[in-house]
This record gives sequence, structure tokens and C-alpha cells, in this order.
Amino acid sequence: MLDPSADEIRDWGNSVIQFMADYLGDLHDCPVYRQMSSREIRDRLDHALPTNGIDFNGLLKVFRETIIPFSRQNAHPRMFGYVQSPGTPLAAFADLLASTLNANLTVWRSAPAPVELERVTIDWIRQILGFNAEAGGLFVSGGSMANLAAIAAARQAKDDSSGRLRIYASGETHFSIAKAAALLGIGRENVRHVAVNERFKIRVDDLVAKITADLQAGHVPFCVVANAGTVNTGAVDPLAEVREIADRFQLWMHVDGSYGAFAILAETARKLFVGIEQADSIALDPHKWLYLPVDVGCVIYRDPGNARSAFAHEAEYTRIIGEEADEAFAFWDYGPELSRRFRALKVWMLLKGVGLDSLGGVIETNLACARHLESIVQASDDFEMMAPVELSIFCFRHVPAQLRGQSPEAINAFNERLLVALQRDGSSYLSNATLGGRFTLRGCVLNYRTTLRDMEILIEDLRRVAKSLPPSA
Ligand SMILES: Cc1ncc(COP(=O)(O)O)c(C=O)c1O
Repeated sequence: MLDPSADEIRDWGNSVIQFMADYLGDLHDCPVYRQMSSREIRDRLDHALPTNGIDFNGLLKVFRETIIPFSRQNAHPRMFGYVQSPGTPLAAFADLLASTLNANLTVWRSAPAPVELERVTIDWIRQILGFNAEAGGLFVSGGSMANLAAIAAARQAKDDSSGRLRIYASGETHFSIAKAAALLGIGRENVRHVAVNERFKIRVDDLVAKITADLQAGHVPFCVVANAGTVNTGAVDPLAEVREIADRFQLWMHVDGSYGAFAILAETARKLFVGIEQADSIALDPHKWLYLPVDVGCVIYRDPGNARSAFAHEAEYTRIIGEEADEAFAFWDYGPELSRRFRALKVWMLLKGVGLDSLGGVIETNLACARHLESIVQASDDFEMMAPVELSIFCFRHVPAQLRGQSPEAINAFNERLLVALQRDGSSYLSNATLGGRFTLRGCVLNYRTTLRDMEILIEDLRRVAKSLPPSA
């Protein structure tokens, strides 16, 4: 098993590819999710310590009979929960090839061609965003890690040891920013939550007020985080205005574009991102809106020198001997990880294989799907929107005739039960958000398979499932 012959590799590969083709071919007809319990799954798994191995078919059988049916089908066209990409066969093959080569992208000499490929791919992303030619960055495990790396660089740039640092971000900002502040010793309590307007965008007046009050109280403002697509509603903060405030108070401007930034490829969304190229750093996730399988996030720094000061570490066992400048390049100087898998391969294969025009077109379709849902809801008398659609996230709730005029608590409770029932039904999958204290059904279109018709089916599913709900809990 450890060292199969070439014929065995072909046999295993054929079984896997056959399985993959069947699985993806049948996906439309599978439930997105099914009711299941931890107990049920544990009972199906053999818990005995594997003293002796089993053959490849035995391993594949467990994957086919237990792992697949007892998983949420993230590639399904009506998987609208969270910020979930579907993955794509091209990237699955890229991951297979990356693991075959098992390149470790620490430093140039460890993986010369893979490192160059990552640099090329990062540079494409830089160009997509419109950053200056000197900007650079690297792939990390996801948006949380990209945010952490950027905040570390921001702190380094301020060079302040008073322990009174403060970060500013709207109350709609993803929790990974507060987590990064905690991990970096800045402290969660030093992330100041700025108010949002009726479109869930940061209120610049409140940002200025908070910074000014903090300065007067002796705090050291050092960073403002702007969202390019919030996790709850997809709101894009006014990036150019935030840049102005950052300049006025000499703050680092970080953009969390983990969910939304690749929508810059879509014609109708582009104007929302004006000013993004002026950020000092940006986090964005190819494993979200480039449809790639986890794990691949990306951080870009306008001046990578700040990141270098934050991350570079000289140790004798990593000292690079006898290399010229280009070949002495080390990714560990720009991010938190040392050993790094060849994440760039799947990003490169996707961008090169599909091309930006097609990707922009598919993202445009995702946006159109969310807008279609919004117009169905607005034309209905039993659904209502809870936030405007900005990108591909839609927040709404069901208020059938018998619920109209009832208390806010009753409407919240009904929608909460509806969400659980919809997830268990399996035809469509939504997640939830709380907006202004109100429970909200929340969906995000992030799949190249999703069509306008899927949005209509979602509404039909909700009406059907709602009818089968008992009148109260
Ligand atoms: C806006 C935003 N930022 C950060 C993250 C964290 O990304 P990841 O799950 O890749 O760590 C998410 C995840 O959904 C997100 O939507």
C-alpha cells in the first residue's frame, strides 16, 4: 500500500476517477443535506486500531458508503449556506498533482518551479485588484489566516509598544479580525466596533468619532479594517472614503475581501471596489469566490517590506547559503507558516484554464441569482427582504398570512424552525444571520452550477416546508 506499482496506481486512479465522475454527475439529484446524528456516523466507522491494513477498495468503500452520504453536499447548486464554494474537478486534479509532487513551498530552493508559479499567480491576483507593481503576498490556509497575517504586518508598521493599540472595523466584520487581535496580543477589547448604516456599511462619521475619542483618551489607533463583502449581508464598505480617514489618522488600511473581493471580476459589481487598490493589505479567498476547494486563502501587501519585518526570522537551520537575491526568496518571511503545501497549483490551473472572462461571467450569474431572489421576494406577499442585496448574499424571511401581525418573537421563532426544517428536507440549504435583533434566513450564491431557476425552487421549497410545520414549537 505504501509503494504501489504503476499498474496499481492506474487501478486505484481509475476507480477514484470513475467514482468522482458518477458522484458529480448525480449531484443535482442528491439531497444537499439529510438528517443524521453523530452516533449514526460513529456506528458506521470501524474504531479498532488498524494493526493490519486493508486494500484500496476497502478504503474507497468507506468513502463511498459513509463519508459521501453523511456529508453536506457543498457542490450542490442549492447549497446556499455560509460562504461555501463548490470546488471544481480541475482543482481536485490540481490537488492530486500537488500531493503527488509534494512540494514544500518554504523557500525558493525547496521548490523552485512551484515557488515561481505561486509568485506568478499572486501577481495575477495583484493585477486583478489593481495594486501597484511592488505589491506582493502569498497563499495561506484561508481568510482568517490572511487577516491574521495582515494585522501582524499592520502592527509592525506602527512600531508601538505602549500596549494601547486600537483597530477599527464595522460591527459587521468577521470574527477572525477580533481573533487575530487576541492572538497577536492586541486584545479583542481593542477592536472598536464602528456603527453601520442602513445598508450595513461602515459609518465614516462614527469611525472618525471613535478614532478621535480614542486619541484623546491616549490610545494608539493603528489600523482600520474595511469590508469588501461582509459575511452577513455582503455589504462593501466605502473603500475610498475609508482610505481617506486612514490617511488622515495615519492608520494602516486592511481590506477583508475574503468573501467578496473576486466580484471585482464582474462588470456590474466593479464600481463597488473603487479604492481597493489603495489598501495597505487585503485578505481574499480563492476557496470562496474562485470556487476552489479548501484550503486556499491569500494575503496581498501593498509594501511587502512591512510583512517582512513582522515575519522574518533568522535561524541557522533556515539560513540561505550561496543563493542570489531571487533565489534567496523565502515565503516564511511574509507569513506565519513554514511548511506550506502547493496551494498555488489549483489557483493557477483555474485562472489559466478557465480565464478571467469566463470567471467574471460566472460571478455575474451568481450576482444575478441573488438579485432574482430579491425581486421574487419583493413581488411576493409572504416573504420580505431583511437587507439589500449588494453581492450574492441574500437575507430574507418568510411571513405567511397567518403570521402577519404577530409578535417579532413569534416571527423569529417561526423562521428559525423553518430553517431547520428546510435543512432537513434536503432540497435547498440556507444558513442564518441576526440583523438588528431579527432572525434572518441567509443565503449566498457561490456556485457556477446555480441558475435563476434554483432561486425559484428555493422559494417553492420554503413554502412547501413551511406548510408542513406544526403551528408552533
Ligand atoms: C468576510 C469574511 N472574512 C473572513 C472569513 C474567514 O475565512 P476562512 O473561513 O477562509 O478562514 C470569512 C468566512 O466566511 C468571511 O466571510
